[in-house]
Amino acid sequence: MKKGTVFVCQNCGFRSPKWLGRCTMCGEYNTMVEELEEEVSVALSETGGEPVLYSEIKETAGQRIPVGIEPVNNVLGGGLVLGSVVLIGGEPGIGKSTLLLQVSKDLAGREQPVLYVSGEESLEQIKLRGDRLGLTGEKVYLLAETALERIVSVADRMNPRALVIDSVQTIFSSKLTSSPGTISQVREVTNQVFRLAKNKQIPVFLIGHITKDGTLAGPKSLEHMVDVVLLFEGERDHNHRVLRVLKNRFGPVSELAIFEMSQSGLKPIDNPSAFFLRERPKNEPGSVVVSTIKGTRPLLVEIQALVSSTLFSGNPRRMSIGLDHYRVSMLLALVEKKIGYSFAGEDIYLNVAGGLTVDEPAADLGVVLAVISSVKNIPLPREMAVFGEVGLSGEVRSVSQPVARVKEARSLGFELVLMPEGNLSQLTGENITGIKCLGVNSVKKALTQIF
Ligand code: TYD
Ligand code: MG
Repeated sequence: MKKGTVFVCQNCGFRSPKWLGRCTMCGEYNTMVEELEEEVSVALSETGGEPVLYSEIKETAGQRIPVGIEPVNNVLGGGLVLGSVVLIGGEPGIGKSTLLLQVSKDLAGREQPVLYVSGEESLEQIKLRGDRLGLTGEKVYLLAETALERIVSVADRMNPRALVIDSVQTIFSSKLTSSPGTISQVREVTNQVFRLAKNKQIPVFLIGHITKDGTLAGPKSLEHMVDVVLLFEGERDHNHRVLRVLKNRFGPVSELAIFEMSQSGLKPIDNPSAFFLRERPKNEPGSVVVSTIKGTRPLLVEIQALVSSTLFSGNPRRMSIGLDHYRVSMLLALVEKKIGYSFAGEDIYLNVAGGLTVDEPAADLGVVLAVISSVKNIPLPREMAVFGEVGLSGEVRSVSQPVARVKEARSLGFELVLMPEGNLSQLTGENITGIKCLGVNSVKKALTQIF
């Protein structure tokens, strides 16, 4: 058969015989790349696909091996499942290689080997990193290789406890002629690795680079092919890193782990709330502590607002970092209409301290109070934490997990929680003592209570 070329969207994998400025499938611009039209022969699996009677299927509760770093264990849902393929995405420089070298170190110990394949760095570079992480006698084998078939044959021979591939975009299969990193290559690599993992029951970590807007470039199309998808995030100028689960065939997707990047690798942060509040200013207008839920755990974060008159006539600025822009606009409109402030001619800046993002409506009340506190130039009570969703009539609505939120505030020494009245009844049975819980059903009520 004559082979031609085809244009493949690098975002979603859509194929088109013609070049397109915008992919008609996913709507992304400038993602079509010309690739050779190739057919990958699909190898039939050696174990025949005979149908099995339901009642005769044996339950093997996905055998797991513990990863030394406890928070990573939790994120994986209680350990690494044998034969699973875990994709870890993150921006360049965020610490993916560091995390996985640490994981390799702990998994290997002194007995079973772990194979760490790097298509990006030389062995010497990896060793420099390993020195910082305290790697010494552990049986971590390094392989600088980009040819997939070679990697698979080495792994097949070695039968390691785990295999790390850093990164999926640098590895290429000789079955295809397109260059590494293209969607066809990335898919083929994942495919072969997946087969290796399942056949030999070797857990595999695939590292994938992602772009600024947070999508796994290319790897986005891999999400359905792997068992677990983790996202490693953080601001490069901040030291904390968050490991989140996007997909997990063997566990919950709500877990998350928080680390601090230190001089000797990533250190789990045991008390994230204290960590994120450690530099909170004293008695500053516009600062509020919100009790939010991140994953399954409560987390206290500081939201800051700054309202100042626009210097030049024209459109006043509305900026928010770490919060949903549309939601903030809605809340500002509400404060103007229902509470009676006018923000015409005022610049409004909102920020979640520490480079965190808060994307749940339970932060609404905090945002509103921060803005009003800044306008009035009166600080909020320092020992107060807040949570609650705000509706368009200015009502404060109840949110999920009030008990966890209150307990977190109490454990950090807060004396007062301002919260939705509707959530109060959920607290009684739980016997929350040692902290005052003030329920409000509207923003107006909240304001009269604290100012
Ligand atoms: P790296 O793991 O190379 O990131 P990625 O693989 O995601 O591209 O780590 C990048 C940064 O981490 C780099 O700027 C150096 C820093 N770092 C530390 O601060 N402490 C350490 O112990 C290590 C190993 C790296
Ligand atoms: Mg790296």
